[in-house]
Amino acid sequence: MEKLIIGNLKMNIVSDVERENYFKSFKKSIRNKKLKQTKIILCPPTIHLETFTKKIKNKNVSFGAQNVYYENKGSYTGEISPAMVKNFGGEYVIIGHSERRKYFNETDKTVNQKIKLSLKEKLQPIFCLGETSEERKSGELKNIISKQLKKGLADIPKNKIFKVIIAYEPIWAIGTGDIPTSENIMEVQILIKKILVDNFSLNINKLPKILYGGSVNYRNAKNLCLDVGMDGVLVGGESLHPVDFLKIVEVLDK
Ligand code: PGA
Repeated sequence: MEKLIIGNLKMNIVSDVERENYFKSFKKSIRNKKLKQTKIILCPPTIHLETFTKKIKNKNVSFGAQNVYYENKGSYTGEISPAMVKNFGGEYVIIGHSERRKYFNETDKTVNQKIKLSLKEKLQPIFCLGETSEERKSGELKNIISKQLKKGLADIPKNKIFKVIIAYEPIWAIGTGDIPTSENIMEVQILIKKILVDNFSLNINKLPKILYGGSVNYRNAKNLCLDVGMDGVLVGGESLHPVDFLKIVEVLDK
């Protein structure tokens, strides 16, 4: 099955020069690669989205945003809507990233509203969920994942849930180099699948893609994705280095 490799560039690439360098390095790294089983989704800061879609033309690469608002238009100073992302070349949007939950008051409710409007606008949501180390230590893992998943997908019809890409990102693994064991990942993968089948009546053979995210690099990508049956990875830090990012893609294209 096709694997997704999503690059979350976060709030980086601060100048025109940096952006040009990124394009040069990305194009050089992807040239001559014949990818059969993988799809790359780059999510730059929204200010760069249109330029990315124009400068990187490759059939294996699509684009997305890192956040959207849950209204399409109007007096919401500073916000970007799903319709805007769609009209300027984005096909995906990351929703509910832990950094947004932590610094920007994102709640399960706003995550749900954003997922709903994105789906309506035919923008594919990449829905992030995960636990802190304290929650894991205090035995709250299952409760936290269940709550985030059930509330995030509340009232979404099952034929649409299939289009949501779910990204399990343990918060303690993001940007730390601290990675979960195979058992840790599989435990959450099984829990997510069980909730999708039991609570949302999805068919076990037709579930949304479930990705892993948190400190992924080309050395650990096989363990964190292929060996544990995940459908791809959400990459932060390493996506800023196209040479290494494309090495992750190569590992997962096997
Ligand atoms: P990281 O970030 O790869 O730098 O750990 C992942 C993410 O925040 O999505």
